[in-house]
Amino acid sequence: MSDLNNITSNFYKKISSVKSKEDLQSLKTEFFGKSGEVTSQFKSLGTISEDKRKEFASSLNKLKDELTNELEKKFIELEKIEINEKLKGEKVDVTLPIRPYQKGKIHPVSQVIDEISSIFSEIGFSIAEGPDVETEYNNFTALNTPDNHPARDMHDTFYLEENKKILLRTHTSPVQIRTMLNEKPPYKIIVPGRTYRCDSDQTHAPMFHQLEGLHVDKDITMSHLKGCLDYFIKEFFEVKNVKMRFRPSHFPFTEPSAEVDIGYTIENDKIVIGEGDKWLEILGCGMVHPNVLKNVKVDPTKYQGFAFGMGIDRLAMLKYGINDLRAFFESDYRWLNHFGFDPLDVPTNYKGLSK
Ligand code: DAH
Repeated sequence: MSDLNNITSNFYKKISSVKSKEDLQSLKTEFFGKSGEVTSQFKSLGTISEDKRKEFASSLNKLKDELTNELEKKFIELEKIEINEKLKGEKVDVTLPIRPYQKGKIHPVSQVIDEISSIFSEIGFSIAEGPDVETEYNNFTALNTPDNHPARDMHDTFYLEENKKILLRTHTSPVQIRTMLNEKPPYKIIVPGRTYRCDSDQTHAPMFHQLEGLHVDKDITMSHLKGCLDYFIKEFFEVKNVKMRFRPSHFPFTEPSAEVDIGYTIENDKIVIGEGDKWLEILGCGMVHPNVLKNVKVDPTKYQGFAFGMGIDRLAMLKYGINDLRAFFESDYRWLNHFGFDPLDVPTNYKGLSK
């Protein structure tokens, strides 16, 4: 019995100086490990005379329960200390002065893409994307522009391989193909993105941005196209009336095709979009050519739709009075500071797009 008392007092002495989980683990091993002090007592049970064995065993079990309990209590205690220490390190000092306001600005092209996305999402369009590096098939062939078609020459394509099978997309129209191949109709998407052509002057950059639109369903007509564009132009330029005219044109992937002009005047050296006697061409559009639908395994006797494509950079120039396209891509901090937008002021239709 005195052995057990010694074990107990020894245990309490040791546990009181335990400071870490590791110490606690060694203490546990010292008493309950294979040759631990308590374990040895259990092993010695057989050597004790029968009349004393029962009493000794019961005391030993009690001791075991008591010490195990103490070990568990200590573990919880140590755990608490550990968490508190950690929390102390993560404390936020709310009395610290705030960080200076970030000076970065949103590029006008990003701003205009956000505005356009907001406008079209209001009428049920979702946003689709595709890669800048495209196949010749998606960029031309599937869009009803076969080899030797004159429209190919007009695109000043950057080919990435000598066999001309891989290229930098010359327009966002290949995303029409990607979307229609991957999903079932109906389709109602806009595609903002980068496009590339080997061309550079005040109004052309080798990399520029386009916005594609596609709406294919069972009863889509040209009047839906007109309604959609009328809504978009008014919302985008934040004007109540817009004079619009559709001029017959040609694109291989639409039939019929049209180019759209909007009316404008010049007031105090500034372009005012909407009314007036001058015309500005802003986009190409038309009804999706049945061959395009066939190429993506959509039945043109059941489905039809409209598509349109426009230059985003040009829209940004018009809306925000920027007159040289090349400045968009020069990363001049002074320019960005002047024409850029507040990063926290995300455009929405409710709040107004550019206020
Ligand atoms: N992809 C044409 C271009 O880059 C623009 C365009 C015209 C897109 C008519 C269309 C469309 O979807 O229907 O010149």
